[in-house]
Amino acid sequence: MNELLFDPATHRKAGRLLGELLANYEIDLLNQPVLPQINRDAMRAILTEPLPEEGKPLEELFQEFRDVVVPNSTHVAHPRFLPYVLPSPNGISAFADALASTLNQNCNLWTLSPAANAIEQRVISWFNELFSFPKGSGGIITSGGSMANLTALAVARDTYIGNTARTEGVQGRTSPLILYVSEEVHNSVDKAAVILGLGLNNVRHIPCDSQFRMCMDLLKDAIFRDRREGLSPFCVVGSAGTVTTGAIDPLDTLADFCGEERLWLHIDGAYGALAILSERMQAQLLPAGRAHSLSLDPHKLLFNPLEAGCVLVRNAEDMRSTYSFIPSYLSMVSDSDFLNYAEYGPQLSRSFKALKVWWSLRAYGRKAYARAIENLFDLASYMGERIQAEAELELVAPVTLNAVCVRCRNLTDSQNESVLARLLSEGIAFLGRAQVKGKFCLRACFMNLRTTREDVDHILEEMIRFGEEELRN
Ligand SMILES: Cc1ncc(COP(=O)(O)O)c(C=O)c1O
Repeated sequence: MNELLFDPATHRKAGRLLGELLANYEIDLLNQPVLPQINRDAMRAILTEPLPEEGKPLEELFQEFRDVVVPNSTHVAHPRFLPYVLPSPNGISAFADALASTLNQNCNLWTLSPAANAIEQRVISWFNELFSFPKGSGGIITSGGSMANLTALAVARDTYIGNTARTEGVQGRTSPLILYVSEEVHNSVDKAAVILGLGLNNVRHIPCDSQFRMCMDLLKDAIFRDRREGLSPFCVVGSAGTVTTGAIDPLDTLADFCGEERLWLHIDGAYGALAILSERMQAQLLPAGRAHSLSLDPHKLLFNPLEAGCVLVRNAEDMRSTYSFIPSYLSMVSDSDFLNYAEYGPQLSRSFKALKVWWSLRAYGRKAYARAIENLFDLASYMGERIQAEAELELVAPVTLNAVCVRCRNLTDSQNESVLARLLSEGIAFLGRAQVKGKFCLRACFMNLRTTREDVDHILEEMIRFGEEELRN
């Protein structure tokens, strides 16, 4: 047996060690601080370790993981870890990831991954069905929302440019392409605009209304003005869940307008689109299916661990126009049951991320997801109501999804920053920071399957206490 392989007995031993580690991590989680007290010596030992000449026994590696890696990790799954749209992973995904690594399918050509190919197609179809995308739609599993946005916007750009997209790109155009987003859009869209050669000067950040939704009148004014000036409006990005407040842009109105004006509509639903699994959210989110493309993130509301994003595209052939390159060394046998995903996105080699998404949906079912999502949204509403009932606190934005933006009413921005820092340094909770209407605020984003109302009460009580202390000092 090659020394880089495990014999069956070692496989079983590794499996037992892994199973124990996972179970103990769950049990210990509540006793851990959200943010680790970093052991600098241990980190320096890692940073300076010479490349080992000889290997170490399995037990030693697991022991080191328990003693050094776990205590120096941020406990994302802790019930009071609430700073970002980053969930506690569900139970089954870690096992799916281990199996995906075992099979090491390359999800580029179907011949290298037939079952994975069928699974990815099915998952994409389920997502398309959730949003009632028509026949002919497609999509691909990505590493996350940023890649989903980039993947979609490249297709939008090329569809607009047409025949010369591949040969000329955006070079040499006398009329620059203009992209429209709201001022609350996630920065991954700006980043995509830069990567795609559009340039930030050609991204119009349209102001929002009091509910943090893109103002349609201002969008229309900007587009018509740009056209009059000889520029080329080509795409509007709406958000189904803005990253700071969770606002949902007026999706139906956007779809009507983009249809009339023949503009590509991309919806960034990385944060919120999968809330459609809850019937409560369906009416608000279904219009996202009227877009030309939609990003959504299983590593957010499906509670998959990183990485698993997804982009859906109304006309799958548009994806192929951008991404299909078939050099002789990759020439592939086509088969009506399978797709070559290398033709639908920028990556060639691609891991079997669809497995954890597929297993999660099949292990738990839509109804369990609806309950989990509704529970998190209820926690956010509960926090919002409690804040409104406390004179010392100010709810800075309406609670639409599961994000709550709050500040201590009588404190300055820097005093609010101190309150946030104390919540973290005293091990109470890890909340995020946000700027809303020019004011600094603390942001709780409920993505954690273990968080309870008691956690919310505790955070608010401590926030009030720290706020009072700030005022006294
Ligand atoms: C609205 C929105 N879009 C895009 C992203 C980027 O997603 P990812 O971190 O998966 O790249 C996020 C991340 O929180 C987001 O909230």
